[in-house]
Amino acid sequence: MNNPDAEKSKKAAGEKAADYVRDGMILGLGTGSTVRYFIEKLASRIKAQQLDITAIPTSAASEKLARSLGITLTTVGEHPQIDLDVDGADEVDPQFNLIKGGGGAHTREKIIASASKEFIVIVDKSKMVSRLGNFPVPVEVLSFSEKYVWNEIVSLGGLPRRREGFLTDSGNIVLDCRFNVIDPEKLETDLKCIPGVVEDGVFAKRRPEKVIVADGRNVKILERVL
Ligand code: 5RP
Repeated sequence: MNNPDAEKSKKAAGEKAADYVRDGMILGLGTGSTVRYFIEKLASRIKAQQLDITAIPTSAASEKLARSLGITLTTVGEHPQIDLDVDGADEVDPQFNLIKGGGGAHTREKIIASASKEFIVIVDKSKMVSRLGNFPVPVEVLSFSEKYVWNEIVSLGGLPRRREGFLTDSGNIVLDCRFNVIDPEKLETDLKCIPGVVEDGVFAKRRPEKVIVADGRNVKILERVL
């Protein structure tokens, strides 16, 4: 069962992020249970204020939700420059490095975050950590290369585990990888350089400009010092 306090916090963070949407924007829509609250609030703002918003979803689930709420959708092919991306995270460290991909959507999420002028992450307080690594790093992998990638991850000091019964929206497998020590920028590069890895869930090169953290109804906006 969902933790009601965490749920309240997710709602508060998700709804707060809708305040940053301006008329005429091209938006990235992340994935997950926190983003769901953002998408719902966004849809109600669009209706109430007749906003001209076009959005690019990062997963089939977010696409389905946004479509059901009447949000106009586009693709990154049509709009390679995005004004604002709002997404959740599994862990956020004090430098705003992230682990993402709990929902297995991190490949599209990283593309959309990288293509966006501004990236806002929305989380409940439990996601804020002093160092990354309690949450295993999701790595999307072509199934053809599974054994090879597995061995390479082990030689990087990781302990991979295949996410059972799960394929990404692009039809690939996910290895959830535990690491004792994480140097975020190095790990992101090392994983990405293994042939057969589609994308890893460390976001160190594209970090958010803002993190909206909620603890119950108490919401804080943290800004990255640029
Ligand atoms: C999906 C993600 C999600 O943003 C992340 O897992 C957080 O999800 P939730 O808001 O449900 O806790 O990276 O790939």
